[in-house]
Amino acid sequence: MNILPLTSYKQNCNYNPNFTSCAKIYDPKKITSLDIFAKDKVRTTTGPFRSDQNWNDIMKYIFWNFSGEKKVNIACLACSDSSESLSYALYLHSKTPKSYYKKFHITGSDIDPEMIKIAKSGKMNLSLEDFTNMRKYIKDVQQYFKECGAPVKITNNVDSGAASYKIAPEVHSMMKFKKSDILTEVKHINPDEYYVLNIKNVFPYLKTSYNNEVLETMSKKLKSGSLFIYGKYDLLVPNFRIKLLNSGFFEPIPGECFVQKI
Ligand SMILES: C[S@@+](CC[C@H](N)C(=O)[O-])C[C@H]1O[C@@H](n2cnc3c(N)ncnc32)[C@H](O)[C@@H]1O
Repeated sequence: MNILPLTSYKQNCNYNPNFTSCAKIYDPKKITSLDIFAKDKVRTTTGPFRSDQNWNDIMKYIFWNFSGEKKVNIACLACSDSSESLSYALYLHSKTPKSYYKKFHITGSDIDPEMIKIAKSGKMNLSLEDFTNMRKYIKDVQQYFKECGAPVKITNNVDSGAASYKIAPEVHSMMKFKKSDILTEVKHINPDEYYVLNIKNVFPYLKTSYNNEVLETMSKKLKSGSLFIYGKYDLLVPNFRIKLLNSGFFEPIPGECFVQKI
């Protein structure tokens, strides 16, 4: 698992994660525009091909599950600097022809305007470990990035080991980004379309009432056959899996962090 539990962070404030492209921390008690849904300090920690998921397995399942469909939305909510959306775009671009991957509409949204500005810019901070993770899935990954030097400045960024890179325009243009919160986005789910809905590694930061409304709304809105992907960190929310299984989802592959709408 590549996320530092909140408790360990509190015990060691000098901790410098080396696996992330960005790790900014904001305190909901101080930053009012971001505090409304949070109950604790939120981190923007992320990275491409985050290792809490086997990307070959999930992509194989996605290809099989939606093989006959013309349009599938891959929506990454709480997407941070775009690493998650980028993982899908890189995987699709490097392994499938355009005639196939154009059926996947990749979007990302986050409540933090600074993260969305980075996502839209097509430039991001990447560490050596980010490249190691990407190489597990993408051959010649370097062809997709041009080094730009000093890291993109991020308020309170605690990752000092990164440099900034420009993402290849043909990959960046596969993704669209906007500033929005999770609940607003799930309310806008189109019930007539298929989704791979990613809301990963964010629920433990948020208020219980907000989380419950998100889970209830997406359970009502998602078309049967759509996938919901969560992160290992989200399992810290009490009864998280049970809530999903009780609200109209099943586990196609037990033990993997995704469920399918019945
Ligand atoms: C730990 S990061 C997870 C990033 C990514 N999903 C991943 O798993 O790598 C949490 C992200 O959630 C965002 N966030 C926090 N509360 C949010 C909310 N209510 N709506 C949308 N994004 C939120 C933060 O700004 C931060 O970028």
